[in-house]
Amino acid sequence: MEVITRPSAKHAVDLVARLLADRIRAKPDAVLGLATGRTMERIYEQLAGSDVSFKRCRSFNLDEYIGLLPEDVHSYRHYMHTHLFSKVDIVAANTHVPDGSASNLKEAAERYERLIEESGGIDVQLLGIGEAGHIGFNEPLSSIMSRTRDKSLTPTTRAQNAVMFDGDVDKVPKRALTMGVGTILDARELILLATGSAKAAIIAQAVEGPITSMVSASAIQLHPCCKVIVDEEAATQLRGRDYYDFVFEHEPEWECYRN
Ligand code: F6R
Repeated sequence: MEVITRPSAKHAVDLVARLLADRIRAKPDAVLGLATGRTMERIYEQLAGSDVSFKRCRSFNLDEYIGLLPEDVHSYRHYMHTHLFSKVDIVAANTHVPDGSASNLKEAAERYERLIEESGGIDVQLLGIGEAGHIGFNEPLSSIMSRTRDKSLTPTTRAQNAVMFDGDVDKVPKRALTMGVGTILDARELILLATGSAKAAIIAQAVEGPITSMVSASAIQLHPCCKVIVDEEAATQLRGRDYYDFVFEHEPEWECYRN
């Protein structure tokens, strides 16, 4: 794992957007794992404004609320359409979001896993982190081997996401269909972005704490190719900060990304 701290949220976002654009340029038919949430909005804004072509890409989103139709303005399908899909040249049929409105959720989850497998697997998975330590909607006690399935959301997550439901926590669905931790770990590369002081404590636990299903993001420590990109505010509780900065300053891989 590499942990990179950038001076501001904007610098952190710029770096992640550049990394993703470079991955797509290097492999125009890349299979992308995408995330939603406020942190990701700025990434999609940058990608939509870039010259990178998504024409041959396929995408799989991490999660979707259960009970919301794709056209619901609060659904993650709608979020993706608004922030990215409608703004780039990706082929709509090649974009996938778990079907939270399916009558048979188990079947929908199994179909999603099959589709990912048939696509050849995810090349690069973008991740945010929830204040309860989730990646996707893998709330505490999610098995590190879990696959796509339905999951009950914690009060912390519902409170965190209320802002996207007119500030009304009662409007936030109670369950979601989410890729499992095991599904996420199968991606060939993970890039996790966290910004702001509200993420400082959980980032330190995920990166430096024990690997535990109580903090599903800690499972990223098991991944052989994982980058965690944070801003100064999210980095304040990292104990190994000096070493992480040293690696970023000296590893040849990062040379073209330092400025
Ligand atoms: C959503 C998702 C979540 C978010 C996380 C952070 O698809 O996967 O894990 O990334 O809840 O959300 P924000 O960016 O709104 O703080």
